[in-house]
Amino acid sequence: MRNRIYLNNGWGYTESYSDTMLNADYDDSGLKSVRLPHTCKETPFHYFDEHIYQMVSGYRKVLTAPEEWRGKKALLTIDGAAHESEVFLNGSKIGEHHCGYTAFTMDITEKLKVGEDNILVVKVDSREDRNIPPFGFVVDYMTYGGIYREVYLDIKEAVYLQDIFVRTDISGEKSEVTSQITLNESAEGLIIRQSLRKRGNEEYQILGEYVVETATGDRIPELKYQVENASLWDIEHPNLYELKTEIIRDGEILDERIETFGFRKAEFRADGFYLNNKKVKIRGLNRHQSFPYVGYAMPESMQKHDADILKKELGVNAVRTSHYPQSHYFLDRCDEIGLLVFTEIPGWQHIGDDEWKAQAVENVRDMVLQYRNHVSIILWGVRINESLDDDEFYKRTNTMAHELDPFRATGGVRAHKKSSLLEDVYTYNDFLHDGKTKGCERKSDVTSDMSKAYLISEYNGHMYPTKAYDWEEHRLEHAMRHANVLDAAAAEEDIAGSFGWCMFDYNTHKDFGSGDRICYHGVMDMFRNPKLAADIYACEQEKIPVLSLSSSMDIGEHPGCNRGNTYILTNADSVRMYKNDRFIKEYTQADSPYRHLKHGPILIDDFIGDAIEKNEDFKPAQAEGIKKALNATARYGLSNLPKSIYLIAIKMMVIYHMKPEQAVTLYNRYIGDWGGESTSYRFEAIKDGKVIKEITKQPATSIQIHAEADHYELVEKNTYDVAAIRIRMLDEYGNQMYFYNGPILLETEGPIEIIGPKVTSLQGGMGGTYIKTTGRAGEALLKICTSQTEKVQLKFSVAIDNLEIQNFKT
Ligand code: GAL
Repeated sequence: MRNRIYLNNGWGYTESYSDTMLNADYDDSGLKSVRLPHTCKETPFHYFDEHIYQMVSGYRKVLTAPEEWRGKKALLTIDGAAHESEVFLNGSKIGEHHCGYTAFTMDITEKLKVGEDNILVVKVDSREDRNIPPFGFVVDYMTYGGIYREVYLDIKEAVYLQDIFVRTDISGEKSEVTSQITLNESAEGLIIRQSLRKRGNEEYQILGEYVVETATGDRIPELKYQVENASLWDIEHPNLYELKTEIIRDGEILDERIETFGFRKAEFRADGFYLNNKKVKIRGLNRHQSFPYVGYAMPESMQKHDADILKKELGVNAVRTSHYPQSHYFLDRCDEIGLLVFTEIPGWQHIGDDEWKAQAVENVRDMVLQYRNHVSIILWGVRINESLDDDEFYKRTNTMAHELDPFRATGGVRAHKKSSLLEDVYTYNDFLHDGKTKGCERKSDVTSDMSKAYLISEYNGHMYPTKAYDWEEHRLEHAMRHANVLDAAAAEEDIAGSFGWCMFDYNTHKDFGSGDRICYHGVMDMFRNPKLAADIYACEQEKIPVLSLSSSMDIGEHPGCNRGNTYILTNADSVRMYKNDRFIKEYTQADSPYRHLKHGPILIDDFIGDAIEKNEDFKPAQAEGIKKALNATARYGLSNLPKSIYLIAIKMMVIYHMKPEQAVTLYNRYIGDWGGESTSYRFEAIKDGKVIKEITKQPATSIQIHAEADHYELVEKNTYDVAAIRIRMLDEYGNQMYFYNGPILLETEGPIEIIGPKVTSLQGGMGGTYIKTTGRAGEALLKICTSQTEKVQLKFSVAIDNLEIQNFKT
């Protein structure tokens, strides 16, 4: 018998709940058949009213309880339903839950009719006027609604393992694993057997057995075992272990749980963050859990994909799950890939009345209890994001977190300095940098206690919203601001690190964003396509080669046709620049003004190379002066030249008797990119003597659509699967066409369907879509058509690896 049954399929759904749904003879033909995760309302990409997803909706499902469940316990878990839920079984209320971001488990045994069909109904209230966090103030993100995570039923014996909290100690010669086990009831004589394996190994090694004594009650004394040669968990080597706990009576295994954990020590000290006693500078981004069209409702693969993007594409070592606990799938992946997590309770600036606060304290409890085995979590956020001080309230949240997990630090994000610090870490949103001001505040200017750690929980964001289709210099400024703050934070030895705002653009309420219900604060767009700023982060990792240029090299994009600053972003050893195939200059990291980044942006200051010395009949000093003046003119234009360049010009006229006409000819020959033969630029990134990446910038003569899915082999496990497709318009050299906003038509064949509209458009040369499996297996096609390119087809396969789903009819 399977002990966990996923209830993600075969729900009937209505946008307007009615008590009649509780009746056994309710006519459900008017309900829409849906699968979980489900959003109560699909939304347009932007320009929609947040009221469209605010409603009291109803979910109804017939749950057939087989005979074999007789005498067993049935525990129903809803992993996430936004925002208030009431659960009914066979017309009776089982319970309610008042947080849209934590899971809840209800014992439905008593009302369950074994051997019969049962009517399970969930009433979900997604209105934003609820008296629970995060509501009370208009928040800067949409809050969506529906049963947007999975639902499952655990069938247990009368006695079962209710909770296991695993922690490790790596300080001794042998590492230790300790578990705090809670049974649902006291069970004398029960044997608790624990065994361990490293993730990836077949066999478990038995650690030991413990016999429950009468007096222990439901809480078992801590069980501690030593483990020889345990491989530590860290960012580079995220070694995971699985602890199997079984409860046994008369040789029969009554229950079993497997907890995934890692051996590691995470510590915030006054001067920063230490992982396994080594100082690690946190370099992270904030992540919301939203997606286009379906809000919060995305399955496992999409949750994991975001973690992969953060770690593997953006190269960050940490994420803040702003502003609420997020999917366990996301956290599982963070555990697996070594991505540090700062997670926090739901909330945004507003602190409500006593009832509201009691719920917030409850949320701390649920968050810590539900997430504390995730090795990647290094910090609990126990304040309402950016709220004012409230010592009485925050004493309660801190105490709750510390009692349930004495081994992890607490933080709590504030936007004000010198605030009352009840937490272990001062976590502060530092929006000091405005492009000109310094990158970040000093710790001593912000914190109220220098003896505790200090962390920047946000920067940038609303300080410089940036769209994919903004003009080039805007996109560059966005990227440079991220570089400026990262560099400044890296320079401050006693700042534990920073989290940029934010990973991707997100739908938001009317009071925020650009008026179209989007905050364009991301280093990626909503489809997770990178903006230039994404490369600032990507450059700091070493695994994937990065080479990008802040400019398309089209001078007409700039005021007065003056290029302004052009930067190379790379993590290579050097970059060679060629103009019309002529070598101009090789840049290395030493050319970057960023001293505290491993691979900071490098300014292009030469468009000429040695062409003037070689081709023109000038004295060396004269050639040198001309080159300097021409390169400056390329960047600044004639009217904005630095004073030093005027001095050079005067020198040229006085000493070398040059005439203005001569300067114009030289300008046209070496700098002006128009009129004559078109100019090409080529850049080669060199690592260990080899060209690892190349860019060619040359006028495009053809364009092509490029589409890539995050995975092509879709599998239905506990529910449907989704693939993310990123779409970009490229020229023949692979450069993104930043001003291509053309239409896209999407069509499918086979057992997949499109999430969102089938007619869409690229924005700034990029966009995307999502495809979803339908409960059937087979081969499938996604066709992408535009008015200007050949059609592109992506091939997918869909497999079903779950019997329950196989029997499910769409
Ligand atoms: C912060 C807030 C975030 C987001 C950000 C935009 O104040 O905590 O949720 O609104 O500003 O920059």
